Amino acid sequence: MVFLHRCPRRHCALLLLVVLQVLTPACFSDDTPSPETAALLLLKNSFTNATSLSSWTNSTGGGPCDSRWDGVICQKGSVAGLDLAGVGLSGDIDVDALAQLADLRTVSFADNYFSGGIPALNRLHTLRAIYLSRNLFSGDIPGDFFDDMTRLKKLCINDNDFTGLIPYSLSRASAMMELQLQNNHFAGTIPALVLPSLSAFNVSNNELEGVIPDVYSKFNASSFLGNENLCGEAQFGDQPCKEVVASNGKVAAIFVLVVFLICLVVYLITTREQKGEEPLDLDAMNDEKVMEAAKEVRFRRVQSIAKEGEVGQSRRMGSAENNGGGGGGGAGDLVMVNEVKGVFGLPELMKASAEVMGGGGMGSAYKAVMTSGVAVVVKRMRDMNRMGKEAFDGHLQRLGSLDHPNVLPPLAYHYRKDEKLFVYEYIPKGSLLYVLHGDRGIDHASLDWPRRAKIAKGVARGLAYLHDQFPSDEAEAAAPAPHGNLKSGNVLLAPDFEPLLVDYGFLPLLNPTAMTMQAHRAPEVAAGSGPATQRSDVFCLGVVLLELLTGKFPSQYLGDGAKAGGGGTDVVHWATYAVGEGREAEILDPTIVAGPHGAAWVPEMKRLVRVGVDCSAAEPERRIELREAVARIEEVAAGGRDGAGQRPS
Ligand SMILES: *[C@@H]1O[C@H](CO)[C@@H](O)[C@H](O)[C@H]1NC(C)=O
Ligand SMILES: *[C@@H]1O[C@H](CO)[C@@H](O)[C@H](O)[C@H]1NC(C)=O
Repeated sequence: MVFLHRCPRRHCALLLLVVLQVLTPACFSDDTPSPETAALLLLKNSFTNATSLSSWTNSTGGGPCDSRWDGVICQKGSVAGLDLAGVGLSGDIDVDALAQLADLRTVSFADNYFSGGIPALNRLHTLRAIYLSRNLFSGDIPGDFFDDMTRLKKLCINDNDFTGLIPYSLSRASAMMELQLQNNHFAGTIPALVLPSLSAFNVSNNELEGVIPDVYSKFNASSFLGNENLCGEAQFGDQPCKEVVASNGKVAAIFVLVVFLICLVVYLITTREQKGEEPLDLDAMNDEKVMEAAKEVRFRRVQSIAKEGEVGQSRRMGSAENNGGGGGGGAGDLVMVNEVKGVFGLPELMKASAEVMGGGGMGSAYKAVMTSGVAVVVKRMRDMNRMGKEAFDGHLQRLGSLDHPNVLPPLAYHYRKDEKLFVYEYIPKGSLLYVLHGDRGIDHASLDWPRRAKIAKGVARGLAYLHDQFPSDEAEAAAPAPHGNLKSGNVLLAPDFEPLLVDYGFLPLLNPTAMTMQAHRAPEVAAGSGPATQRSDVFCLGVVLLELLTGKFPSQYLGDGAKAGGGGTDVVHWATYAVGEGREAEILDPTIVAGPHGAAWVPEMKRLVRVGVDCSAAEPERRIELREAVARIEEVAAGGRDGAGQRPS
């Protein structure tokens, strides 16, 4: 003690630590519960009536998997699931405790008495299934709640008292198979979630309204019953829709408000920066709040916008005054990098009528139609702080100056530290992903073979152009992939089905942590054994080709974890096998083969399958060069060795 008293505090702590570390293995190991035991006991503690969990005890010395604790599902000796359905629980769910269970994949708290807001299970990014059915949960679910739940496959939260909008962020869970939302009080319109693997869906008995989006056409009326103001031809026949009236005007008003708030914040920050002051953390927080508020407004259901909007508007204007900000932002806030669609600034965007397009891969997007008639998409992106502002400017100028019929350059951008806005021309038809898997309407039907061949050719040419513009020495291992994020969701289709590549060239901008979310489809990148390089782009091209040919949603888009569970089709494996057996014809999308003259084109289709397979070899060295891929695709698209063009007539 005397010794401890004399030494400086910090050293004492260190000394104690050393002593404890030496002692721990020898003295304490028998009593120290394993981390999983500790976590589950903490969880049990957060419940109010855990009488049914008497087997959850540390007294036997065995962990949850050794001693078979009730409701604990183990795999390979660690906790993979919790099935606590119908055991009379109430109280809280300690998510911190759950977060200690690294291998946890499914949780069920169904049929209990839990109440309050939805528990923060979205912190457990690796969850595949969540069951909260038949409890007493209530309140709105934040719109971005599922942003990081990209692996979620089953979400059952039916028979509770949830209110507000169905979160658009569910679209991030691209492997989603089952969504049970019935018997709650969800309101507003149903978001068009493009979830190709969705096979069970129920939103019955809520307060939803408006038109059921086409993406749900495979579900019949039984999934939508008991929502008075819901209509949809596929489900309810021609019964007329109560118009969701005048939504555009109101959404426009909201958009103006959002842009105004952004301008205001920018204005405040830039004036402060000009004064040479560091922006205060406080302001950053306000800024976050403003964005959150804006987001909230955006997601509020259209019909209640009138009231909400007015109230919210005056309230927020008030708070803006409190912040000491008076006018709107200056016109210089937007940096033009491409002027083919004219020059505009934030003021023009402010006057635009606009609508929310929902989240794509990395952030949310709005569509805005300016008074000049030019329609643009404004994308918000996060996690782009790898480059300093100057280098960022330079890189964006380069992206903006790209000029190729199959590449869509950004028109303008706006730079802030924690968020960037990118403005692109709006392309009405949407992405190849959407037309191929999401929309079974007119555009899908028109994806016949000549059009698919045209898309294949355009994608390959656009990619080759990017490779020319951003050359990198093959020997230089770390040279980033010129595109870096090629997938059907990033291939937009012009009115004539000419493909346009977007979201390319971002790898040098992305924070290293965000990079793992990008371009993870090539095996060497997924395995972490290499960065995304030119050859990873070739792999991604192969996947897009095989997706076009098979019409299947590639499991490659879902990342590693989801693959095993069967979301999507491993098109690479499937096609490689088919080529090996000489059975390419069997994997072709029946729609193209059955289409006009489809059968006559089968030899070309088979040749393209082989190109796709040659692009997507697992080992990067075995993939063909992009040059070769382009040449072979062009030959196929031209209709044969003789390049005779449109062969059948
Ligand atoms: C507590 O749980 C037990 C076991 O499921 C149940 O029988 C009992 O009714 C519950 N008590 C309360 C107050 O909810
Ligand atoms: C959806 O839920 C409602 C209400 O629980 C039920 O009547 C209906 O059969 C369900 N439909 C489907 C397709 O599961």
